[in-house]
Amino acid sequence: MYRIAVFVGSTRPTSSNLKLAKALEKLAAGKLEFDFIEIGNLPFYDDALWNDPPAEVIRLKREIAAADAVLFVTPEYNRSIPGLLKNAIDWPSRPYGDGVWSGKPGAIAGATGGVSGTAAAQAHLRSILPVLGLALMGAPEVYFQSRPGAIDDEGSITDERVRTNLGIWVERFTDWIARFATPRRSLEEIERKTA
Ligand SMILES: Cc1cc2nc3c(=O)[nH]c(=O)nc-3n(C[C@H](O)[C@H](O)[C@H](O)COP(=O)(O)O)c2cc1C
Repeated sequence: MYRIAVFVGSTRPTSSNLKLAKALEKLAAGKLEFDFIEIGNLPFYDDALWNDPPAEVIRLKREIAAADAVLFVTPEYNRSIPGLLKNAIDWPSRPYGDGVWSGKPGAIAGATGGVSGTAAAQAHLRSILPVLGLALMGAPEVYFQSRPGAIDDEGSITDERVRTNLGIWVERFTDWIARFATPRRSLEEIERKTA
């Protein structure tokens, strides 16, 4: 089973993106193991902090390095991604030449109550992530409209057509990871690289 480092671009306990990520986790049961990564406690990126890197940053880099793939599920803020998520993308890309994103298979998804379905935010992610060396899955795309009742109290997608399409997305992402996954780095190697 593939281990996925999951980044949700909202820290709200009632986040519609967290709900979508959990619904995807449920659909992917038995194929993908979701590891929800804490990003709300990271300091703002500061190059000077590499002299004595914060424990949260070291933890973040280790969690990514130990994953087979990464998934970003994000809201759209003012036609882009939230600063929270950009900060969590910037930290593991450094120090220069020692980032942990390169070579990871990845996918993106987003939920909004609006009609644009986070398309603008996802377009920005599509321009950022390949530059970091991620093998980003281009299709199928997930633009989820989080209207009331779209996900029930058990965390299931209520609309059958949407549920089927997201099931196909899970299969495609699993195939994508199989194509691009590199062997997980040993804990010793990760410790050496991130210490
Ligand atoms: C600062 C801010 C900017 C926003 N800009 C957009 C936007 O550009 N497009 C959009 O569809 N929704 C926008 N929204 C609405 C969010 O999509 C909505 O709040 C969403 O529920 C947040 O995701 P969450 O439920 O996962 O926290 C914005 C919300 C905030 C707080």
